[in-house]
Amino acid sequence: MTTVVRPHLATLITRERATHAERTAGSRAAYGTADHLFGRVPMTWMNKWAGGYPLYMAAASGNRITDVDGNEYVDFSLGDTASMAGHSPAATVAAVQKRIGVDGGIATMMPTPDAEWVAADLTRRFGLPLWSFSLTATDANRWALRLARAITGRPKIMAFSYSYHGSVDETLAVLGPDGSTLDRPGNVGAPVPLHETTRAAEFNDIASVEAGLAHGDVAVLIMEPAMTNIGIVLPEPGFLAAVERACRAAGTLLLIDETHTISEGPGGCTRAWDLHPDLFVIGKSIGGGVPSGAYGLSAELAARISARDDVDLIDVGGVGGTLSGNPMSTAAMRGTLEHVLTDEAFAHMIGLGTRFREGVEEVFTTYGVPWSVSQLGARVEYRFQSPAPRTGTESAAAHDPELEEYLHLYLSNRGVIITPFHNMALMCPATTAADVDLHTTLFDAAVRELAH
Ligand SMILES: Cc1ncc(COP(=O)(O)O)c(C=O)c1O
Repeated sequence: MTTVVRPHLATLITRERATHAERTAGSRAAYGTADHLFGRVPMTWMNKWAGGYPLYMAAASGNRITDVDGNEYVDFSLGDTASMAGHSPAATVAAVQKRIGVDGGIATMMPTPDAEWVAADLTRRFGLPLWSFSLTATDANRWALRLARAITGRPKIMAFSYSYHGSVDETLAVLGPDGSTLDRPGNVGAPVPLHETTRAAEFNDIASVEAGLAHGDVAVLIMEPAMTNIGIVLPEPGFLAAVERACRAAGTLLLIDETHTISEGPGGCTRAWDLHPDLFVIGKSIGGGVPSGAYGLSAELAARISARDDVDLIDVGGVGGTLSGNPMSTAAMRGTLEHVLTDEAFAHMIGLGTRFREGVEEVFTTYGVPWSVSQLGARVEYRFQSPAPRTGTESAAAHDPELEEYLHLYLSNRGVIITPFHNMALMCPATTAADVDLHTTLFDAAVRELAH
């Protein structure tokens, strides 16, 4: 199959939508009566799920979710990485229960000893010596960008086209064909046009990075070491080292956001690939799904900040968050990092990531499908283009909403969930080889039907 026959695909989608509606009547009814929720969902992105409404969850454990209609799913979405440790991992639950139910104290504006334990473990994993906590990766990124502007005295940041770092206004930019910075299509309520705050560059295009940095006004380059939010776009050999060199040469700080790319290993890409960020951000998974996030500082940057008495980090300054670093969140991070997202768990998850990728590759070969699949440790993603896209702009162009809807519904109607955004699958400690093989079998069947 070299091209998808669209009328045939439309017929398959209609059939899968009907099956979905039949299997998930309870979810449909709950959605239909959610009259007090804006967009009928507690968070508007939940409308991304294929089939016209989200599945309502009744229970979740490990890598299994049961919906309100009693359907059980093998979950490769894992809350879009928030539950990379699996749903309600026992050690996280025990740590939180002890903290809030036995010892007591959810939010006190006082530290607990867990905070230093977690910070030391983040240092062991990622190398940066000093840490602060947030409750989301979005907030950690916002604060890290503010610190970078404060310390460098430069007004702008650099971000890659079609990257995603949370709802951080300055990052929602794309590079125009003439090298200008544009608002990303769909960006909501930007306070000012993006070219005022940002210089966009293209991933895997070092010339675009150097051109933007040459203006001398970029405080910090924020990046994922591999893009994960427009499909996976892996760095080409030498690109990340060239980025580090370009930042150093321009006096621009480097912020690495490993909120998703921690899938590459217990120390993320930073450890696996020997990267040297000045600032580092992580969120989602480290609390096992309990709101948590962190940003790390290099020793040199921390010293620069501490030497400045005009940078107010204690009172009403650029960073904050009354609930950040709260006892519940830090207990959850400690329980998760100490007992769940261990080095051994990563070895298991990455092995399954490889098995998942190989299964998908076999299907491509069997049916001669011109798609690609990329792996980032425990994270795997297929994209409707071959060879795999090498920039965010290329990957955005490979987006195919119809194919996505078909595959997502085909899988979920048969008990497998992948992330509602594009085609990401993530392994957690509870994922098994049989779960991966179930996906391969269903993916094979879905593509076979498409090809005939
Ligand atoms: C790389 C990256 N950074 C930051 C975020 C923001 O995370 P949150 O929405 O939990 O704040 C995301 C969310 O998908 C992400 O992928």
